[in-house]
Amino acid sequence: MSDKVVLAYSGGLDTSVAVRWLKEEYNLDVIALTIDVGNERDFAAVQQKALKVGAVKALVKEAKELFVNHFIFPALQANALYEGQYPLATALSRPLMAKLLVDVAMEEGASTVAHGCTGKGNDQVRFEVGVNALAPGLKIIAPAREWGMTREQTIDYAQRYGIPLPITAASPYSIDENLWGRSIECGVLEDPWVEPPEDAFTWTKSPSQAPSKPDYIEIGFDRGIPMTIDGQGLDGVSLIQRLNELAGKHGIGRIDHIENRLVGIKSREIYEAPAATVLLQAHQALEAMTLAKEQLRFKQRVAQEYADLIYNGLWFTALHQDLAIYIQSSQRFVTGTVRLKLFKGSSSIVGRKSPKSLYSHGLATYDKGDQFDQSASAGFIHIWGLPVRTQAQVQGTGSLGEKEESK
Ligand code: ARG
Repeated sequence: MSDKVVLAYSGGLDTSVAVRWLKEEYNLDVIALTIDVGNERDFAAVQQKALKVGAVKALVKEAKELFVNHFIFPALQANALYEGQYPLATALSRPLMAKLLVDVAMEEGASTVAHGCTGKGNDQVRFEVGVNALAPGLKIIAPAREWGMTREQTIDYAQRYGIPLPITAASPYSIDENLWGRSIECGVLEDPWVEPPEDAFTWTKSPSQAPSKPDYIEIGFDRGIPMTIDGQGLDGVSLIQRLNELAGKHGIGRIDHIENRLVGIKSREIYEAPAATVLLQAHQALEAMTLAKEQLRFKQRVAQEYADLIYNGLWFTALHQDLAIYIQSSQRFVTGTVRLKLFKGSSSIVGRKSPKSLYSHGLATYDKGDQFDQSASAGFIHIWGLPVRTQAQVQGTGSLGEKEESK
């Protein structure tokens, strides 16, 4: 009896060729594992295809809820955006997939897991570091990194073994998608000067084709978790799906980013992330109202750290556990409702309210009802400016600086 390998199977060309290749090169029986993280796909067809190309077993695991509750929402609470731009859809799905690969390997008594990533990207790192953390004894094979075939050669290999070419019409792009967003790479997008062609996008309307009337929506949060749209309670998966549609229709969430990969490559990445864009914006607006200035400042630093560790494949680490507790705690007053206007490619915050709001009209107003003691400001400024006055007197720092003086 041959040993078994659990392969993360997408139904695409590389993972289909990998099924056969693992048998030929390693004499391993392949269990194909396909994970549903909200990618619109015919999972029954993917399963059939896995069996057809030679898998001894093909499993499909529904993981949308797990993905939302354990990965997407914590990242939203953190405001995680890699390099200030990328909401991390692909990156967040990998540790979940690593976990499910490990679980199935245990259940099936497999010695090995495999994935279809090449040696140039971040995903190989995320899968393997994740698997290493969860099951240090498990072997890992990365066929597409090992076989050294070009795309042409992979197609030849497929034809030689009667492996059907992709179910969907061949796309000029490499695409990865899940509930939190769609990542688009390759083809003409590799020229950073070229505007992404309209056919790169499928979730978002071109802003120029978007409705000429705005939509207003209200998103209700409870401790940093979005719970309602326009007052209607929705589970996390439905809420995100709904926002992807609504914001996508208005052309919101297109991102064009020159990104720094972990392996040192700069790459041009296009993303569509309508729900992520709107939710991150709304969440930050609510935090601006419910967190103190110092909390906000500190949390921004944590957000960057958190985004980097997600991107860099360090989900299953102690640092992540520590930061997650901080982020969770920071959300205890982030409850309330945010109103947004969706229009022609952008969403804007037009209102916010919260039972825990730190905004005080009595303190802020210039109208009647002012509760701020303006006379106290004089003393405050006297103390605040003390070190500035001292330094200016002693060191002459009260000037415009060199440029002005050398004139
Ligand atoms: N650059 C993004 C990331 O590293 C997206 C990767 C897309 N992956 C893919 N297999 N097409 O997270």
